[in-house]
Amino acid sequence: ASRPFSQLPSRSERSSLGIAFDIDGVILRGRTPIGGAPQALRRLYGDCGIIQLLGALKIPFLFLTNGGGIPESKRASELSELLGINIVPSQVVQGHSPFKKLVNRFENELIVAVGKGEPAVVMSEYGFKKVLSMDEYASYFENIDPLSSYKIWTTKQASNSNSTSKEFTPRCNVLLDRVQAAFVVSDPVDWGRDIQVLCDILRTGGLPGKVNGHQPPLYFAADDLEYQAAFPSERLGMGAFRLALESIFNRIHHNALEYTSFGKPNPFVFKNAEAILRHLQSASYHVMTNGHPGCHPFKTLYMIGDNPSVDIKGARQAGHPWFSILTRTGVFRGEENHAEFPADLVVDTVEEAVDYILRTEC
Ligand code: G3P
Ligand code: MG
Repeated sequence: ASRPFSQLPSRSERSSLGIAFDIDGVILRGRTPIGGAPQALRRLYGDCGIIQLLGALKIPFLFLTNGGGIPESKRASELSELLGINIVPSQVVQGHSPFKKLVNRFENELIVAVGKGEPAVVMSEYGFKKVLSMDEYASYFENIDPLSSYKIWTTKQASNSNSTSKEFTPRCNVLLDRVQAAFVVSDPVDWGRDIQVLCDILRTGGLPGKVNGHQPPLYFAADDLEYQAAFPSERLGMGAFRLALESIFNRIHHNALEYTSFGKPNPFVFKNAEAILRHLQSASYHVMTNGHPGCHPFKTLYMIGDNPSVDIKGARQAGHPWFSILTRTGVFRGEENHAEFPADLVVDTVEEAVDYILRTEC
């Protein structure tokens, strides 16, 4: 039933605010929730259980991570399970999410997807039709990795490929077709093999073992030098892999490596997050008021992150209405604010950040 007008959400309930949560080092370390994340997130849902069930939020929020490797829908289910709340796929923005905007350009071209998890499945779901994971691609070229026999882990063979494209029967094409683009979707697992094969692809114009040709486009989902995982100190991220690839490529090739990096701190990531938060805002309002339209500009958008040069730099560059909150649960551990990229607020945990937001706004 429709709520009487007097019971429509108050101004604060209508949430002229939104929140973007970084994941690694703020919400999770590895797969373990940290900083009181589950209880903090629960406070962002309406009091009524049915509203939570419908996915309606008292305060619109999303996850804005530079990580990835699995489709957004799968990440939403994983997060729901780990955090005990109902996360919908549109609340998950990963480093590689903007790759779907390149589908028109490479839809029917052979592309290679690099990284942990299911990089080819991610790209197939975005609509790319001729995508192979690096594992599968490399497996077609005999002796391409002279160290493979020393590796104790198993390499997926073509038969149990990650590719979901039904029409694409790769074997006959791979040794003839040029790779038209390489996408580093998530943190690479076998750096040595991946650097070797990417150098092959990039310097030959897309066909390992052939003479040099024009470099195909190379895209990185993010450029984090380091990030916080389960280990006590930071781990090398995609930016470190990019540096390794770039320095080697530039030594063996006459033209410098050309590439594009997505992810935070790029301003378009924050613009996109704002647009998604607006959708979430109007969807929640629609449910809470049983159909009354309601959309108004955000007064404040909070970015809660652990990495000053990624999360805080990004929010600062994005400008109004972004407000940055830096936690001490990840890359940043300082007593005071960060010197080069100071946040608007520094707190110990994400729970403290949410507490501050609710105290300030409600
Ligand atoms: O690989 C993940 C890492 O680069 C950063 O993840 O959630 O801290 O943006 P996040
Ligand atoms: Mg982080």
